[in-house]
Amino acid sequence: MSEVDPYDEVMRLRDLLRSWGVEYYRNDAPTVSDSEYDRTLLALRELEQKFPHLVSADSPTQRVGAAPLEGFETVVHRLPMLSLDNAFNADDLLDFDRRVRERLDGAQVRYACEPKLDGIAVSIVWQEGELTLAATRGDGRTGENITQNVRTIDSVPLRLSGENIPRYLEARGEIFMPRAGFEAFNARARRDGGKPFVNPRNAAAGSLRQLDSSITRRRPLSFCAYGLGYVEGMSGALLSHTEAMAQLNQWGLPISEHSRSVPGIDGCERYYEDLSQVREGLGFDIDGIVFKVDTFAEQERLGFVSRAPRWAIARKFPAQEEMTVVLGVEFQVGRTGAVTPVARLDPVFVGGVTVSNATLHNADEIARLGIKVGDTVIVRRAGDVIPQVAGVVVDRRLPQAEDVAFPDSCPACDSVLVREPGEAVWRCDAGSACPAQRRAAIEHFVSRRAMDIDGCGEKIIDQLVDLDLIKTASDLYELSQDTLAGLERMGTKSAKNLQAAIEDSKNTTLSRFIYALGIREVGETTARQLAEYFGALAPLFTATDEQLQEVEDVGPIVAGHLQRFFADPGRQEMINSLISHGVYWPAPEVQIGDLPLSGQTWVVTGKLEQMSRDQAEERLRVFGAKVSSSVSGKTSCVVAGPGAGSKLKKAHSLEVSVIDEAEFIIQMEGWQE
Ligand code: IVH
Repeated sequence: MSEVDPYDEVMRLRDLLRSWGVEYYRNDAPTVSDSEYDRTLLALRELEQKFPHLVSADSPTQRVGAAPLEGFETVVHRLPMLSLDNAFNADDLLDFDRRVRERLDGAQVRYACEPKLDGIAVSIVWQEGELTLAATRGDGRTGENITQNVRTIDSVPLRLSGENIPRYLEARGEIFMPRAGFEAFNARARRDGGKPFVNPRNAAAGSLRQLDSSITRRRPLSFCAYGLGYVEGMSGALLSHTEAMAQLNQWGLPISEHSRSVPGIDGCERYYEDLSQVREGLGFDIDGIVFKVDTFAEQERLGFVSRAPRWAIARKFPAQEEMTVVLGVEFQVGRTGAVTPVARLDPVFVGGVTVSNATLHNADEIARLGIKVGDTVIVRRAGDVIPQVAGVVVDRRLPQAEDVAFPDSCPACDSVLVREPGEAVWRCDAGSACPAQRRAAIEHFVSRRAMDIDGCGEKIIDQLVDLDLIKTASDLYELSQDTLAGLERMGTKSAKNLQAAIEDSKNTTLSRFIYALGIREVGETTARQLAEYFGALAPLFTATDEQLQEVEDVGPIVAGHLQRFFADPGRQEMINSLISHGVYWPAPEVQIGDLPLSGQTWVVTGKLEQMSRDQAEERLRVFGAKVSSSVSGKTSCVVAGPGAGSKLKKAHSLEVSVIDEAEFIIQMEGWQE
């Protein structure tokens, strides 16, 4: 066996690890498994321990372990780190393009477009290919030396790879925390009693500010380059931003996979629209788009004004987070009695809408946020998601801020509140006797996916309930047109329309009706399954626990909710009253029990030879079976072909009967008779 020179072996392992790292972080395309990577890293670490003279600062093993600092040193940037002018709408962007074209005398300009990452700007220097310095932007002229911390970030290469590496290369970019890492970090912090961060940007900033780089090492930070700084000793010239980014990428720096070069300002607008569409799915926060005149010659002609270049602009997205003040906390009682604290906020424009309320979910969330009335909070609204209070700005707390007191009894009817084991919510246990629960139940009853009574909004229901004109949903069917016309904001015409809508709603389906009843945890799907299984309402009243649990998706908890609901005399009376007012639904077309496989649930898995899986499933449906994609205790039978895996295993473990394709074909012949 030939002796391997430890030096050669150390170099070989480093090269391997570096190239894997570059593939992984630069191209987002891992070429080896994590375990292979870890094994190789360990082998290198062991060799370096054995031969300490071979350790060097740019080794992949050297991302940890620097001694904590007393403070950060100041770094003077060789070229100032500028900021960007903002465009808040399409007009601002057109103005920018006009100014650019005027200065360049005319024609259409090519723009490089890239996401504006919401993190921390950094400058990173590689000398002779080795990372030697990393600094924050600071005031643009001087920043702080955060080299130790930046070295711990896996996507920042400690040594550049590729050809023609300049003697001195400064790249600029953003360090940020991807959302998944942020969520995981916060979940851990909460579990361990630590302090979660309000948003990924603060998390990135806080992580870079650590004097002990071993803390930074444990934070899931990423880096993305977006520009050049000072460069010296480079062979060949880079002519445009796009070229420069491609070159940085070749040297191993991660760049945005979303960057594009487009012709003219129309291209920029389209890019903005396209990226707005995918913003939520990016996996990291961006607060806008940066547009840069692409060619360096044009950038030079345009130059700078004070702190920002004339050749670039940031088109901002509507902010997804804003600060505001909590004016009070109210407690709402929902349809199922759940008491939900709602923060009343000083209205703020965030995520494209004005927000004046945000749910605080439950008592645990109030405790977690440590929120007080009078506090300044960060409100977040992303996409179509309901607004959330992301965190309290504790620095702005005033001495008069008051604790939030969770009520001891139902704010609507004063009944006791109960909290079931393992649940975070407190509930009023008065059921239909609680006016707030009744009101919420009526709102649900009329909603579009339930009885679909058009024109019967919250304001109308509030008046009807407050004036004691209705107590339950069935009272709706007794309202006269005159009574409706007497309500505020209701003319004769709309009263007539509303009454017609109420009348129309009588013709419904069993599954809509079950859903409209507003039984706890019975959503549309469960309602449909109940309707299919029982085929009529009456059997539901007397169904046993076992019968209910025969239904797909119904387990012991939902079965319990159903039984309690149908046992409540107030609810029985309301259902009877609805039916006597003429609410009806057509009987199911196919009587349950008519077909050979009615009431059965089948699963098809593995590869079939005589037919495709789709065909097999279609035939099962024709014979009345319900076809499911997962095996459970309720599965009647599994058809398994070659290659069946976990579903087959599960069927065996649950002792569900399993047949092969040949047996399936024989059985089908029997059903056809
Ligand atoms: S270019 C001279 N490109 O935005 C050009 N900046 O408001 C300077 N940022 O401090 C910046 N993504 O932290 C540029 N793709 C991007 C960016 C970006 C985020 C940040 C950066 C900068 C701030 C400017």
